[in-house]
Amino acid sequence: MCGIVGYIGKREAYPILIKGLERLEYRGYDSAGVALLNEGVFSVHKKKGKVVELKKLVAHKKLLGKVGIAHTRWATHGIPSDKNAHPQLSNSGDIIIVHNGIIENYLTIKKVLTKKGYKFYSDTDTEVLANLIEDIKKNTKVNLGEAVRLALLEIDGAYGILVLAKDEPDTIVVAKIGSPAVIGVGGSKTNPEFFIASDATPIIEYTDRVIYLEDREMGIIKNGELTIKTIQNKIVNPYVHKLEMKIEELEKGGFEHFMLKEIFEQPEALHSTIRGRLIESDGNIKFGGLEKFQKELKNLRSLTVVAMGTARFTGLIGEYALEELADIPTKVEYGSEFTYRKKAIAKNSGLLAISQSGETADTLNSIKEAKRKGMLTLGIVNVIGSSIAREVDAGIYNHVGPETAVASTKASTSQVLLQIMLAIYLGRMRGLTKKEGQTILKEIQKLPELAAKTLKNSDQIKNLAKKYKKIEHFFFLGRKYNAGTAMEGALKMKECSYIHAEGMNATELKHGPLSLIDENFPSLVIAPMDSMYEKSKSSIQEIKARGGLVIALTTEGNKELEKIANDVIYIPKTLEMLTPILAFIPMQLFAYYIAVERGNDVDKPRNLAKSVTVE
Ligand code: G6P
Repeated sequence: MCGIVGYIGKREAYPILIKGLERLEYRGYDSAGVALLNEGVFSVHKKKGKVVELKKLVAHKKLLGKVGIAHTRWATHGIPSDKNAHPQLSNSGDIIIVHNGIIENYLTIKKVLTKKGYKFYSDTDTEVLANLIEDIKKNTKVNLGEAVRLALLEIDGAYGILVLAKDEPDTIVVAKIGSPAVIGVGGSKTNPEFFIASDATPIIEYTDRVIYLEDREMGIIKNGELTIKTIQNKIVNPYVHKLEMKIEELEKGGFEHFMLKEIFEQPEALHSTIRGRLIESDGNIKFGGLEKFQKELKNLRSLTVVAMGTARFTGLIGEYALEELADIPTKVEYGSEFTYRKKAIAKNSGLLAISQSGETADTLNSIKEAKRKGMLTLGIVNVIGSSIAREVDAGIYNHVGPETAVASTKASTSQVLLQIMLAIYLGRMRGLTKKEGQTILKEIQKLPELAAKTLKNSDQIKNLAKKYKKIEHFFFLGRKYNAGTAMEGALKMKECSYIHAEGMNATELKHGPLSLIDENFPSLVIAPMDSMYEKSKSSIQEIKARGGLVIALTTEGNKELEKIANDVIYIPKTLEMLTPILAFIPMQLFAYYIAVERGNDVDKPRNLAKSVTVE
């Protein structure tokens, strides 16, 4: 995720800005940049790669200026490159901006500005905003604060921005929707200074007094004075917080581990996954990256999903959706096996690679192999510009921001959702009606809120973790859409808790594994109120009849299982195909809390790597 840093005061800005960028490195990024304003001139330096590359670039330059802005960019619009890195200048060079987030209607605005003669030198939505601000400032003769405000009224999307104007060296403007922005108030009454950043980590060593901007608010710092107002121009009385956290705690957003932070980021991550992609009026989905391949996608006769680890389990869920909604015969393969398996490839068959990192060697190799065989290759990838993202013919990004903990959480729920959205997209080219599409879209829209509701049960899961922490074996069981969920639940348990866990389709139980059941071998059975409920209930009864313990996961309002199971976890009601997205959450929490109880290194489990770039 991008990070922004800004400074205005009496000190030289560069050392503060560069140190701030280093503090934000944990957020993940692919390029970095800085701009200083000194004696009416902007000096702008930016570089693809890490902050250390940027430091090398400016090592022999004199970087003066008591006001400046800086940025680490996690690419969304346009590949990671020097040109797409921030800060972005407006055409005349009067306005400069750094931006975190996505401007959804940037193409419409770009068209209008292009007609007015504006030129664009990068692929970013940010450059469009810089020029929009310049255009408004020039035409209405307002000051920077007002020009930014008027520009923001025209913008849809999420952002955290910092803006400077060449002719107003005493001013810095910050605004936000969705993305975070914090203003640190430092110095003294006679010598005020302000630090602005995406979170408090770059600020904490200078001041402990901070103001968290709310959505649709902006801060205008002019002549040493801070004014906060809404984008609708209503003045706001800011609440100044006193920071009490340590820097390490701040990096994790106040959470004890990255894994927990990422689990709790899921409502926002799901929101980012769907942002700008649902076309309600048509019951359809918009995937920019697939547009060029309409004809091939219409002719697609079969699909092979390739992935490893968690991503593969999400494929086992997506497989049902692709068959149900798009009527496309789909199978899921290990990336590694696809490469080495000798088989005939039918005409018009496609390959869908799913990978959070976009670097998993097994998955990457299968794409190369599929291309050799003439298949259309698609990707669902989180890391922009990664090897898989570059290798596939057409791709869809998760847009959930960097995942730091080894165990995948927020990327996985987004992977499930994107496969369902892809199934709608392909379905609408086939038999899926507009009405059917609209019904699913309506439920998809509720997901971020339902995920937030699911997270509210975290204390219950924490208590369950205390109860089950000493167990050495676990079954995770589910049917149909939730068979993959069960496998993912077991993987989380293995990865984080080092407990032997097996995930399988519950139907398997009676064909062998049931012999393992006794009072020391509990099962977590995923049994939402859906087409498989009665069957899942039977599995619970089979286990109970053999003296096994059962944790049942079911839909809110279904009290029946409380009488049969030992413990019950609830998820909100949603469509059957969307239940895995909500069911993943309690399982992630369960594995996490047990791992913490057992004293494991949750974010970096023993023997594991986040990205496996070897075969
Ligand atoms: C590793 C990680 C897993 C991950 C798998 C696939 O094994 O430890 O958590 O699911 O790789 O990673 P990818 O980046 O391709 O999704």
